[in-house]
Amino acid sequence: MSTLRQRLAGLAERLPEPTTETTLGAIALGLRNRLVPAPEVPPLRPDERLEGKTVLITGASAGIGFAVAQQLAARGARLLLACRSGFPEVGDAVSAAARHGGSATMFHVDLAELPSIASLVDRLDAHLEGTTLDAVVLNAGLVPSRARRTGAGFELMFMVNYLANPALLNALLERGLLRPDATRPPRVVVVSSETHRSVEPRDPAELGHFVDYGATGSMAEYSQTKLLLSAWAMHEARRHRTSDGRPTLAVHHCCPGAVATKIARDAPAVVQPALDAVMRRLFASPDEGAFPVTYLTCAEALEGRTGVYVHVRTEKPSAPTTEDARYGDALRAATTALLERGAAPDRERTS
Ligand SMILES: NC(=O)c1ccc[n+]([C@@H]2O[C@H](COP(=O)([O-])OP(=O)(O)OC[C@H]3O[C@@H](n4cnc5c(N)ncnc54)[C@H](OP(=O)(O)O)[C@@H]3O)[C@@H](O)[C@H]2O)c1
Repeated sequence: MSTLRQRLAGLAERLPEPTTETTLGAIALGLRNRLVPAPEVPPLRPDERLEGKTVLITGASAGIGFAVAQQLAARGARLLLACRSGFPEVGDAVSAAARHGGSATMFHVDLAELPSIASLVDRLDAHLEGTTLDAVVLNAGLVPSRARRTGAGFELMFMVNYLANPALLNALLERGLLRPDATRPPRVVVVSSETHRSVEPRDPAELGHFVDYGATGSMAEYSQTKLLLSAWAMHEARRHRTSDGRPTLAVHHCCPGAVATKIARDAPAVVQPALDAVMRRLFASPDEGAFPVTYLTCAEALEGRTGVYVHVRTEKPSAPTTEDARYGDALRAATTALLERGAAPDRERTS
């Protein structure tokens, strides 16, 4: 480590940990976590490969999802890329990275809309022709600069960052495209964020209520969506186990750390140049940021385990709320009710 970096790391360790209620706080936390060293999981070996395995990835058109797709294709996976944009160039670029049987097929989806998710599952079913998925990477996410309503009346960030994920996973399980199995548990890797630690959990009874926010409130709301996501991931990890604790579906979650992507594309124009400069100079590249996702999808060391959380390259417990089984049960019940309703609580039912 350079002397300047060492000095900055020492300073960062002495300062109180920044909270992520504002964009500035989130950037400060991302930088602190990049500077302060932590014990790392082992790197993936070249022979930890995915030949013959089918992996679905959401949000593979850009940033971390695109880098993950390239890394998994290079390890031989047959990839199904669920994207809103990037047709056909993203599929072509990922196919070019494929080695030894790896391939990529693109499927359109807008994760802001439940009917689009249902249509994706129909098309995946037809494509898989009776075979099943070995892994699902739930990566798509965004940070809008203000609250917006989707067609069903949900707030956009709540919908894409949280509700789309249980909607998709439940549909894949119900259709038998993902089959829990104690001998060969499929993996589910959820891309969350360290910011999930920085907010108090809301009452699941309020799930799906429209929360209005503007540019200054969007990071706090983003953190809320990531707390929901991590709490749901850990609940799914607990739920899919045999009576003696072996996973039938191995559900892991992670934070890629501060990564230079288009995640802040919706930030106000006045702060964009500064944000871009900070990201370019100080944040990790998407290729580096993809590590925890690729690790959780491939690592043989995780066989027999579920509910693992990796932050950048360090395994650690996620926030206490995510370990709270009663909170998880209430969240699952509220999520199921919302998905059955198909519309935000303050909207007319769709059926
Ligand atoms: N970058 C970071 O510092 C950081 C830190 C912690 C966690 N994360 C998480 O990492 C994940 C990937 O983010 P990123 O940084 O790679 O950002 P990104 O470059 O903006 O990529 C986000 C991906 O999500 C997709 N997406 C957004 N809305 C969608 C929708 N309605 N339907 C379908 N796909 C949609 C985007 O598709 P389009 O290209 O079509 O918009 C894109 O493929 C997110 O879950 C994010 O919260 C990022």
